[in-house]
Amino acid sequence: MHDLEQKIRARTCRYGVIGLGYVGLPLAVAFAQRGVHVVGFDVDRSKTDALSAGRSYIPDVPAAEVAREVSAGRLEATTDFSRLAECDVVSICVPTPLSKSRDPDVSYVAAATESVVKTLRAGQLVVLESTTYPGMTEEFLRPPMAATGLTVGRDVFLAFSPERVDPGNVKYGIRNTPKVVGGVDPLSTRFAADFYRIAVDHVVEVSSAAAAEMAKLLENTFRSVNIALVNEVALMCDRLGLDVREVVGAAATKPFGFMAFQPGPGTGGHCIPLDPLYLSWKLRTLEYRARFVELADDVNLSMPRYVVARVVTALNDAERSLKGARVLVLGVAYKRDVDDTRESPSLEILRHLAEGGAQVEYADPYVPEVAVHGRTWRGVPLEPGTLARYDVVVVATDHRALPWDRVAAEARLVVDARGAVPRDAVRGVLWPLSGPPVRGAAAAAPAVAGARA
Ligand SMILES: NC(=O)c1ccc[n+]([C@@H]2O[C@H](COP(=O)([O-])OP(=O)(O)OC[C@H]3O[C@@H](n4cnc5c(N)ncnc54)[C@H](O)[C@@H]3O)[C@@H](O)[C@H]2O)c1
Repeated sequence: MHDLEQKIRARTCRYGVIGLGYVGLPLAVAFAQRGVHVVGFDVDRSKTDALSAGRSYIPDVPAAEVAREVSAGRLEATTDFSRLAECDVVSICVPTPLSKSRDPDVSYVAAATESVVKTLRAGQLVVLESTTYPGMTEEFLRPPMAATGLTVGRDVFLAFSPERVDPGNVKYGIRNTPKVVGGVDPLSTRFAADFYRIAVDHVVEVSSAAAAEMAKLLENTFRSVNIALVNEVALMCDRLGLDVREVVGAAATKPFGFMAFQPGPGTGGHCIPLDPLYLSWKLRTLEYRARFVELADDVNLSMPRYVVARVVTALNDAERSLKGARVLVLGVAYKRDVDDTRESPSLEILRHLAEGGAQVEYADPYVPEVAVHGRTWRGVPLEPGTLARYDVVVVATDHRALPWDRVAAEARLVVDARGAVPRDAVRGVLWPLSGPPVRGAAAAAPAVAGARA
């Protein structure tokens, strides 16, 4: 039996996690909790210091769990990458963003690979977890590993295993979310799969790293395309004077052959808006245009402007202009119950509203301040009377902690891009994402009626 296999079976292998963010930290803690000695590596000293002091900075990872693993000596965090030499298994969980031209920015994976290669020794397994294009593990990681003189598949091992963590999801975590694993050779697949079985109930082996990379991109492209489809249906419904949520709700009663996606102000986060573009980029190099990916990207990117157009329509109906209007945006995180504002459509909404001359503020229980194109906004607290002070309240993120009944009762005018505000409790005027406005008891008769944006 190979030395590494023995260590994995006995759980005496030492595990290094490079990049301790939304993906890396939960992974590090999950393996520590299964008795594996974990060393976390990050270039951000504030993160390694926080972890060493037993603190967490990721909402899904309770500080008490970090503190328990750190004080038990099973979890360490460091900026000293020479300690990668101690690790038998190393996961790379660094960002894979897009460049300004919306092409893959692989500089973080390049830097992490360089750190791994510097200390590479026989008996190490390297697993890339960062989402990437099909072929990257083979094309980008294997050559520098092989250049050390060690043979991949015999002395050292290499695999790709996509991360499926869903921040804020209380039902599915590392343990009960099946994990796909594909190595660059059969032994790499086997060792990586055995390793993940320590902390994950169901591990799915595929025949290559590229198949695992493509599976991840299919998952995220599926979401991007379906969200874009329902967003486009919202635009169609608006032309038809229909409420898209009523239409989706009715279609969702079909017990087979339909899966309901909810429309909204666009997609956000580090995955859905970006990952499919890794796929379209790779396909472009093979002279193939990934049409669904590009169309979905176009539709989803257009949604913040559509929401702002809806705000203009709502203000116009109330005989107000956007210029000078006091606007409160509710929610700047990209989805409910998380603190992540990366690629959040709310930021585009804030920007377009401000560019239109509105006096814009926001409230978000998870995000105290946010920077958009060099301007920093500070969130306002929702005190009694706050909501009534604004000409219009724009619902961009449907955090469960926001007081939706109060929004219905106190706001004069609401544009609800998420369907969060209870319609029957509305006292002013509520404009849903599409279709005619709902006018409550306290709403003045409209000077300019109209359902269309
Ligand atoms: N966030 C998610 O929900 C999610 C889900 C599935 C997959 N992913 C993928 O996982 C990867 C990581 O995403 P994330 O959300 O955890 O990102 P993140 O920004 O939260 O964390 C990345 C961490 O890597 C660190 N880092 C950057 N360069 C480094 C280097 N050279 N060496 C060591 N550390 C370095 C950063 O300081 C940061 O702490 C991305 O490829 C992403 O697409 C993310």
